[in-house]
Amino acid sequence: MPTDPFTGLVPRKMTASELARAIRLDIQAELDATNLYQAHIDATDDERAKAILAHIRDEEKEHAAEFVELLKLLDPDQATYLDEAPGDVAQIIREARGAAAGQGTGGPEGRLTVGSLLGRPQGEMEEGYA
Ligand SMILES: [Fe+2]
Repeated sequence: MPTDPFTGLVPRKMTASELARAIRLDIQAELDATNLYQAHIDATDDERAKAILAHIRDEEKEHAAEFVELLKLLDPDQATYLDEAPGDVAQIIREARGAAAGQGTGGPEGRLTVGSLLGRPQGEMEEGYA
């Protein structure tokens, strides 16, 4: 049992930049914990353990999301990237699908035809090809 009353005390408060960095490490820790608990779920057949681990895994996901929101408050540049990410990802996916459609999966001259839609899951048609 530690007897030092100063155990765990820090020598100073963090700067705003250091706090943002610490929160990024906290996000990383939550994501690592999520993966660890999922690995343990996958590695056991004990349903009781699976249920508890899944509950805790989901809490870690919530913690990660909360830390991301805190980071957005602490680092406005990061907030901008996070806010733009959904639109950026959607654009990248649209461009990738468009490139794939133009590289032999389409009909003549790479255009999409009814036949080029075969094999795609329902609801995955691009806009304008309904
Ligand atoms: Fe957590």
